[in-house]
Amino acid sequence: MTSFDHHRRPLVIGIGGTTRAASSTERALGFALRGAEAAGANTRLFGGTFLHSLPHYAPEDPQRTDEQFELIEAVRHADALIIATPGYHGGVSGLVKNALDTLEELRADERPYLDGRAVGCIVTAYGWQAAGSVLTSLRSIVHALRGWPTPFGAGINTLETRFDTVDTCSDAKVVDQLATVGQQAAQFALAFNAHRVPTAAPLGHAVKEAQPARLLHSV
Ligand SMILES: Cc1cc2nc3c(=O)[nH]c(=O)nc-3n(C[C@H](O)[C@H](O)[C@H](O)COP(=O)(O)O)c2cc1C
Repeated sequence: MTSFDHHRRPLVIGIGGTTRAASSTERALGFALRGAEAAGANTRLFGGTFLHSLPHYAPEDPQRTDEQFELIEAVRHADALIIATPGYHGGVSGLVKNALDTLEELRADERPYLDGRAVGCIVTAYGWQAAGSVLTSLRSIVHALRGWPTPFGAGINTLETRFDTVDTCSDAKVVDQLATVGQQAAQFALAFNAHRVPTAAPLGHAVKEAQPARLLHSV
């Protein structure tokens, strides 16, 4: 076995949604995660209900809840992420931003924050203006976390596109766009991790085998 292990399925974590049971943002994220699965990834979704269970991140308080640890550990082991937020008053929603702020706990990791991870970005909004501006804003946040935004990001105008159930979308073009986001995140993870050598390894030593991804249920 060489350092080029193309057989391991990368783990793609989805973070996003709103508190609404029929969240179009979470449903859009589901389409993107299925795109990642089709490209060879395992996936795990942290949707609106889970994000709502996270306390407001308080850096000065050393106590963390089980849910905070669950998110932190999942992202720590992730090979790529997909983040989906609604545009709320011209910005990323507080619910999603709080989850991203919680990733401050990864600052001292060997791979700090989202280092070395592709991050697909999805925004829903009631109009094209917020869809575009919030997508730019979300990508800036990903850059701050040292992640690699995928070349294609999806901005969805939910005045025009409906997600009536978890697996139906009124616009086939949007379905393709969301699948592309997931596919690009998974493909980057496959390519990047095949060449990644942990910094802890002495220089010149090839990694014998990539770290196995935790087996997690797919959405
Ligand atoms: C508090 C709040 C603020 C919003 N602000 C904006 C906004 O600034 N621009 C916009 O286009 N849509 C805005 N919207 C609409 C949401 O972005 C849109 O409905 C989104 O698709 C909701 O996602 P969901 O279906 O997952 O709940 C806002 C909605 C709420 C509830």
